[in-house]
Amino acid sequence: MDINKKSVKDIDLQNKKVLMRVDFNVPLDENSNITDATRIEKALPTIEYILEQNASLILMSHMGRPKGEVKEELRLDPVAKKLGEYLKKEVKKVDDCIGAEVEKSARELKAGEILLLENLRFHKEETKNDEQFAKKLASLADVYVNDAFGAAHRAHASVSAITKYLPSVAGLLMEKEIYFLSNLLKNPERPFIVILGGAKISTKIGVINNLLERVDSMLIGGGMVFTFIKSKGIDIGKSLVEMEKEVEAFEILKKAHNDEKDLVLPVDVVVADDVNKNAKTKIVDINSIPDDMLGVDIGPKSVKLFLKKIQSAKTIFWNGPMGIFEIDKFAKGTIEVAKAVAANKGTTVIGGGDSVAAVKKFGLSDKITHISTGGGASLEFMEGKSLPGLEGLEDK
Ligand code: 3PG
Repeated sequence: MDINKKSVKDIDLQNKKVLMRVDFNVPLDENSNITDATRIEKALPTIEYILEQNASLILMSHMGRPKGEVKEELRLDPVAKKLGEYLKKEVKKVDDCIGAEVEKSARELKAGEILLLENLRFHKEETKNDEQFAKKLASLADVYVNDAFGAAHRAHASVSAITKYLPSVAGLLMEKEIYFLSNLLKNPERPFIVILGGAKISTKIGVINNLLERVDSMLIGGGMVFTFIKSKGIDIGKSLVEMEKEVEAFEILKKAHNDEKDLVLPVDVVVADDVNKNAKTKIVDINSIPDDMLGVDIGPKSVKLFLKKIQSAKTIFWNGPMGIFEIDKFAKGTIEVAKAVAANKGTTVIGGGDSVAAVKKFGLSDKITHISTGGGASLEFMEGKSLPGLEGLEDK
């Protein structure tokens, strides 16, 4: 792994009890059916590797944000069932993550067996990075593995404090995520382009600032475009704007101009009179958004402009949709960008969240070099921040 942390392959796991943090924070429908099991699937290589080492495996995860209370709908039983189906073996499940019953189940676990603990966030100590809580978790095993890239940006007990009490290494998913993301920061094949979208500029400012100087082109779409446009004193009608970020947006435009960086904003936009599938829409120049309409997607000229850049890129990082793609009428920009990224023969990395949902929705996932399992975590990594989930792992 580039950041030089040991992985499961660097230590002896024979006959050990392994406690592994995974991110099984998967979406459930109202009947507790898992609607997207990607995060479970992506943890399988590490799980299978550990079980092959004649080790016994205790898994722990959070789900949702129960804020220290037991929430029946956030129990991990559906996850245990799904994982059992993938592994074709029983996944034992306990109804807590600490306590006498858990200790007994962990003690009795044999080589090759697997136990899933209950949602860590049923205890408020988890998100407080509580050392005593971490110690109790650690007491269940001989070795700690962190494969929860999606939660690596959280300084929580099962991610951070726990590394004080057990030999701690990375799982194979964690290793893969860091490999792809750190290559983008360190040594991308050029041209390297970054495509950023999504509603809010506030969540992307750190990433823009860290990446602008590293990229050959940065393409901006989605709702955050309008804060940039407004910062230039141009009317944006009823489009989304974060007024408190206008100054920062303008600073970014100025810096890009001064440093001769290719920061590309849409030149035209699809506007609508409302956000629903029956809304009236038209295409207008980015500088001519009517007062009573709002921008919902990038326009055809912008798509053409973006596609040209995407087609010539050797490395692409994409985070955030180009418009409100959940409504078909406003999805064209995101679809075209997704198709072009998928068709690119270079290294293509998609960083979590809605852009992942978009490539999945359009059936393009298997054409992408790497789709990150972490939304917030991949953004913080690309911002250049150090992740608590990596800090405590042993160096090589
Ligand atoms: C995620 O879904 O991004 C991770 O599981 C982290 O969840 P959190 O934002 O609730 O900490």
